Amino acid sequence: MLARINADPEVMRYRFKPLTRQETDELIDEFEACFDEHGFGLWAVERTVDGQLLGYVGLEVAGDDAPYRPLIHIGWHLAADAWGRGYATEAATAVLDHAFDELALAELIAHTTAPNERSRAVMRRLGMHRDPHDDFDAQWYPEGHPYRRFVLYRITAEEWRARKAGDGPVR
Ligand SMILES: CC(C)(COP(=O)(O)OP(=O)(O)OC[C@H]1O[C@@H](n2cnc3c(N)ncnc32)[C@H](O)[C@@H]1OP(=O)(O)O)[C@@H](O)C(=O)NCCC(=O)NCCS
Repeated sequence: MLARINADPEVMRYRFKPLTRQETDELIDEFEACFDEHGFGLWAVERTVDGQLLGYVGLEVAGDDAPYRPLIHIGWHLAADAWGRGYATEAATAVLDHAFDELALAELIAHTTAPNERSRAVMRRLGMHRDPHDDFDAQWYPEGHPYRRFVLYRITAEEWRARKAGDGPVR
């Protein structure tokens, strides 16, 4: 099922290209290696009414050479027919709760290529905020590529708790 989601050009619009079945299998191996190493990673998102796999949402760890800190970021990736229903925001809310309450992280970031407005909207809905000084060029895109410029949003544990308590800043 994830292979079908990753083969959709609409879902993969801001990546290099749709993935083959084998590439998705390799991706799942990477996800599992992350869980083995860190105890967290990208979780499968299923619709509760029927168990349908919608995609994944969770935490990823960048290498030490990443142009940002902290190295752990939250990400989301859903089937196109699951967009527009709040599933990414709902799943990301559970991930933020887990990250701050169980893993005791102090701060989380999210990043995406600047034109990926849907992903940026999830960040804003979660109360994450952007300082343009944090924006960076993604080295995995070649010079001059239209998706090379990335925006970065962040939220601290304190900000998340204040928001959940209803007294966080409305951005
Ligand atoms: C990024 C991505 C996960 C965003 O999905 P999304 O459906 O736009 O985001 P959400 O699931 O939070 O849904 C929000 C939408 O549902 C609507 N909605 C309906 N019920 C809702 C609810 N209970 N709560 C929140 N939003 C709700 C919102 O109004 C919003 O609608 P809009 O898009 O018309 O403004 C999705 O576009 C995707 O998977 N893209 C491909 C992969 C990708 O680019 N990932 C990011 C890489 S950095």
